[in-house]
Amino acid sequence: MADVSVLFVCLGNICRSPTAHAMFETQVQQQHLAARINVDSAGTGDWHIGRAPDKRAQATASNRGLDMSHLRARQVSAQDFEHFDYVLAMDYQNLRDLEQMRPPAYDGYLGLFLPFGGGVLEEVPDPYFGGEQGFEDVFDMVELASKGLLTHIAEQQGW
Ligand code: 4NP
Repeated sequence: MADVSVLFVCLGNICRSPTAHAMFETQVQQQHLAARINVDSAGTGDWHIGRAPDKRAQATASNRGLDMSHLRARQVSAQDFEHFDYVLAMDYQNLRDLEQMRPPAYDGYLGLFLPFGGGVLEEVPDPYFGGEQGFEDVFDMVELASKGLLTHIAEQQGW
């Protein structure tokens, strides 16, 4: 079993959280920590369950050398709090929705993902109804925050 498990959550689980999922998992593999860190993603909404990531998110990732075609959307549930040490929301609405389903006994970390990047922005903006640039911006933000998160976890674990 992994030492640490991380769940990325957005609204649809087809744009932001799968990008974070694939990105963070790749960084974890590059650091030879795949046996120690478990990574997953989910959405608060149910519209896209079972679907592959949005074509635009996949195209942006693919252009930057990141493959996310194997991921399939699923919906987050209260049971996820039994399995994940970190439940990381892309925006404040996701966080509010997660706080509603958080069991009182949950002693992991529920919070926003982007602050791990160390910048001033707190939310990864939803790119779904916007243009291509939005997906590029999401990718850059997620890349930075993923690195910060991995550094944070390694420090916490004393690795
Ligand atoms: P995501 O983007 O939350 O980053 O996956 C969205 C995907 C789908 C919808 C909204 C946001 N939607 O309304 O269907």
